Amino acid sequence: MGRLPFRIGAVSRAVGIPTVAPGALAGVVRGRVAYGEPLSRHTSLRIGGPADALVVPADREDLCALLRFAHREGIATLVLGGGSNTLVLDGGFRGVAILLGEAFAALEAEGTAVRAGAAVRVSRLLAFCSRLGLGGVECLTGIPGTVGGALRGNAGTRDGWISDRLREVGMVLGDGTAARRARADLGFAYRHATLPAGAVITEGLFDLERGDPAAVRRAISKLLVARNRSQPVESRSAGCMFKNPPGDSAGRLADAAGMKGARVGEAVVSTKHANFILNQGGARAADVLALAAAVRARVRDHAGVTLELEVQVVGEP
Ligand code: EPU
Repeated sequence: MGRLPFRIGAVSRAVGIPTVAPGALAGVVRGRVAYGEPLSRHTSLRIGGPADALVVPADREDLCALLRFAHREGIATLVLGGGSNTLVLDGGFRGVAILLGEAFAALEAEGTAVRAGAAVRVSRLLAFCSRLGLGGVECLTGIPGTVGGALRGNAGTRDGWISDRLREVGMVLGDGTAARRARADLGFAYRHATLPAGAVITEGLFDLERGDPAAVRRAISKLLVARNRSQPVESRSAGCMFKNPPGDSAGRLADAAGMKGARVGEAVVSTKHANFILNQGGARAADVLALAAAVRARVRDHAGVTLELEVQVVGEP
């Protein structure tokens, strides 16, 4: 493959050469380690080559130890979250992929304050809040993935973003030290947060408001119906492929440019919503990228707008 049509996010320095040999993390972490783990098992697109190592840290101390080690050894890290806004390239990831599991899935309320671990699914946070009659996060209805991933990309809908009700974020910095940051320090904007380089989010603390459980439930059900009607939620995708340009919708633009149903290999533009690229079987990351590039080129020709990727592209071609 030649030059990639898009900017790649996390990519290790030692392209092609494994940076973590099998067994290298023994004695470094207590959690689960899998060497050469295919990342296609951990992304919603079901695409992605192997990581040198995949680690599920046993707890926060374990995550600190892992990041300290990676920092010292110059090993790249990649946090997978729910794997839903990520395109891992076919060559996989030279470094350590981190998957936060049960140890980071605590969910608790104290009055109207809710603390959610990074590994808590957004859908579980919503169910928890609706049961307690806590309002303020209904706008997150239907968003796939985890609280950590949603915070990382300031996920949201037109009704609101996850940062709206956020008080602070707990994280482990790239050098392995634990830290907390207030919302105001994280530069939240549309689908964007400014995190310290290499930081891994471990939890979010939200300030919600007391509401009626039935009303919160009704609002969520209504939003869920609308989402299921307009988006291909049943298919393998990474969510919306492109950010919306100011004042318009990338899906509307791609649709108007005639891209619904366009295909490269097994990657297809959804006929339900043109900002979704689906993996209809054995699509490769290269197919998805080529199709995304075609959508972008057609929208540019048709409407004069250059779309920007929302999905994080990581790894090596
Ligand atoms: N439209 C079309 N054709 C399409 C898709 C959309 O004409 O193929 C039209 C719709 O009819 C509507 C307008 O475009 O008039 C907007 O569409 P929609 O309501 O589906 O919202 P969107 O702007 O395409 C945004 C977010 C979604 C979020 C929805 C609902 C982005 C990139 N997308 O989509 O977020 O779920 O609003 O609030 O901001 C995501 O970020 O991954 C994502 C799916």
